[in-house]
Amino acid sequence: MTVLSSLFLLMCIIAAESKIFQNPQEPPPKDVSIDRDIFPVWANITQRVDHFNPVDKRTRTMGQIFRRRHGPPPTDVPIGRASSPVWANITQMVDHFNHADKRTWSMRYIHNDECFKRGGPMVITLGGEWTISTADLMTGAVYDIACENGGYMFDTEHRYYGESQPMSDWTSENLKYLSADQALADLAYFIKYQKKNNKDLQNSSVIVMGASYSATLATWARIKYPHLVDIAYASSGPLNSKVDLYEYYEVVGDSLALASSSCVEVIRSAISEIETLLETEEGIANASTLFKTCQPINVTEPSRSFFFNTVADTFAGLVQYAYPGDIERGCFLVENTTGSNVEKVASYIRTQYSGDSCMLSYSSFLDLYTPTNITSEMTRQWLYQICTEFGWFQTSTSNKQPFGNTFPLDFYIQLCKDLFGVE
Ligand SMILES: *[C@@H]1O[C@H](CO)[C@@H](O)[C@H](O)[C@H]1NC(C)=O
Ligand SMILES: *[C@@H]1O[C@H](CO)[C@@H](O)[C@H](O)[C@H]1NC(C)=O
Ligand SMILES: *[C@@H]1O[C@H](CO)[C@@H](O)[C@H](O)[C@H]1NC(C)=O
Ligand SMILES: *[C@@H]1O[C@H](CO)[C@@H](O)[C@H](O)[C@H]1NC(C)=O
Ligand SMILES: *[C@@H]1O[C@H](CO)[C@@H](O)[C@H](O)[C@H]1NC(C)=O
Ligand SMILES: *[C@@H]1O[C@H](CO)[C@@H](O)[C@H](O)[C@H]1NC(C)=O
Ligand SMILES: *[C@@H]1O[C@H](CO)[C@@H](O)[C@H](O)[C@H]1NC(C)=O
Repeated sequence: MTVLSSLFLLMCIIAAESKIFQNPQEPPPKDVSIDRDIFPVWANITQRVDHFNPVDKRTRTMGQIFRRRHGPPPTDVPIGRASSPVWANITQMVDHFNHADKRTWSMRYIHNDECFKRGGPMVITLGGEWTISTADLMTGAVYDIACENGGYMFDTEHRYYGESQPMSDWTSENLKYLSADQALADLAYFIKYQKKNNKDLQNSSVIVMGASYSATLATWARIKYPHLVDIAYASSGPLNSKVDLYEYYEVVGDSLALASSSCVEVIRSAISEIETLLETEEGIANASTLFKTCQPINVTEPSRSFFFNTVADTFAGLVQYAYPGDIERGCFLVENTTGSNVEKVASYIRTQYSGDSCMLSYSSFLDLYTPTNITSEMTRQWLYQICTEFGWFQTSTSNKQPFGNTFPLDFYIQLCKDLFGVE
């Protein structure tokens, strides 16, 4: 298998609905129609600063932005009964495409028959690069579609995420069964198994649903297994795949500009001013303090790209999961700060690193995601998927975005090699 094979896809870019921010002196009003506090998007995971030194007990909060951009679809207020979704396991083949390989593993899923009427459809929401949760079957489109049609709800966990682990660790060798084809074959077997083992589902039509990467899977499932899947409901499923997804940061820039054209200009100027700062030792020291980096910024590649990518990623995180008003509020924080453009942007970035937390360096990022132990995290597996199969690298290649050409395609290729080896 080559590091970059021919299949590439992109995940969702949820373009924010932006209303124009009327008075730049006033923070935009909070949107009261959406209760954001019930299912917060932000989360922290406490990580050791040094995993390999048992004496060093320092910890750091990280992962918020990455997890935010690769989390499950946000859920609404539950309308279903909390007691209804039930956890279960199904035995799956490790390798669906090698019949000599008889190894199996236990895939986790959730089912809910609260609205089921005999003969009703199977409504399966597909897991993506996240841990599944019972809330997925208590609200939202899955719940509505199932309950309006007497459907039987299922939520399947994607192999290698959450507790659905086919192998004992995440070495590159053991990650080789992590592919869209294997995940689709898991689904095909899952459908056949349910139909065989539940007489009431014998003749049911099958609706698969997903958002982002899992919407891509839903679409592919309908194309690949038309005899098993009748309807695919795909929300923001990226189907147009490519290695250099430079368009991603164009959309981030456009969305920021829609919220505030002066905000995007502050960012554009700040990036170029940071590039100048990083040319001198004193500038590096100043930028390191301003951006609250855990160590002084390392200007050798790929560390330098990683720093700029982290800055850009913070704005991408703001845009990608924005509810109406969020981008305006972010831009207000940027612009409503005194100081230079760099200080304005840095002050916004620092809001992401409160308390003891600080901006990771490339080498600490590698220290976190090179270990092959199975954890509740999803970063290493998702990076493996994009490195080996999907590409979809969100580069700064386009000149129609505000982040300069500070994290080119080479940066991502190096990251893949550093995490998973050359092959
Ligand atoms: C994450 O950690 C920061 C700093 O420790 C804290 O301010 C923030 O409230 C935490 N967020 C969550 C969701 O726990
Ligand atoms: C599913 O399998 C896991 C481990 O294989 C086990 O811990 C768990 O109890 C099982 N869950 C159910 C509902 O059987
Ligand atoms: C499914 O279809 C078969 C053949 O038409 C029929 O015998 C069976 O009763 C049906 N099962 C259900 C649950 O409707
Ligand atoms: C670094 O910061 C100091 C103190 O604010 C300032 O005097 C100096 O001009 C800055 N140097 C650069 C290169 O920005
Ligand atoms: C700076 O980054 C380069 C490339 O990632 C790395 O080889 C080097 O060890 C780093 N230097 C420090 C001081 O961390
Ligand atoms: C920040 O916004 C307040 C009003 O909310 C305004 O009075 C103040 O002048 C603004 N500060 C800057 C630096 O823009
Ligand atoms: C990771 O795995 C290694 C080797 O199996 C083990 O020594 C280490 O304790 C594990 N670390 C964690 C955090 O589980």
